[in-house]
Amino acid sequence: MKVLVLNGPNLNLLGIREPEIYGTESLADLERELVIIAQPRGVELVFVQSNHEGVLIDWLQQAFFENYDGVIFNPGAYTHYSYAIHDAVASITTPVIEVHLSDITQREAFRQHSVLETVAMARFYGKHFQSYHEALYYLIAEENTK
Ligand code: DQA
Repeated sequence: MKVLVLNGPNLNLLGIREPEIYGTESLADLERELVIIAQPRGVELVFVQSNHEGVLIDWLQQAFFENYDGVIFNPGAYTHYSYAIHDAVASITTPVIEVHLSDITQREAFRQHSVLETVAMARFYGKHFQSYHEALYYLIAEENTK
């Protein structure tokens, strides 16, 4: 099983950016935690972070063409307004799981809407790194029902 963990803008600054919201641990710490879950379960993880919308779209398409079994996707602020990201997820049959560290439903009004809401297979948010853990467990469970 192969899963793309795709992180959007400013998530490379985890641990530095607004630690009171996003925590003090880094993106590398998050990736290490996910590998600990994935490895014993035979799941290969590919980690990509980009600050650029088009690069995120290219990777979603690549995940489709290369037959990844799923994408765990935190689009950062693109979540709230990028119809190009919405269309990219709608265009592929690869399961995409939307994740957020913070609880976007309880923050500023502009964060409460997600363009992925109608196209993501599942959504986990508000649980910091645990949101990603739950997304990975979800994809593993989906795979086991095949
Ligand atoms: C975020 C929430 C977004 O509103 C914000 O722009 C981010 C991170 C989260 O993980 O909580 O960059 O996606």
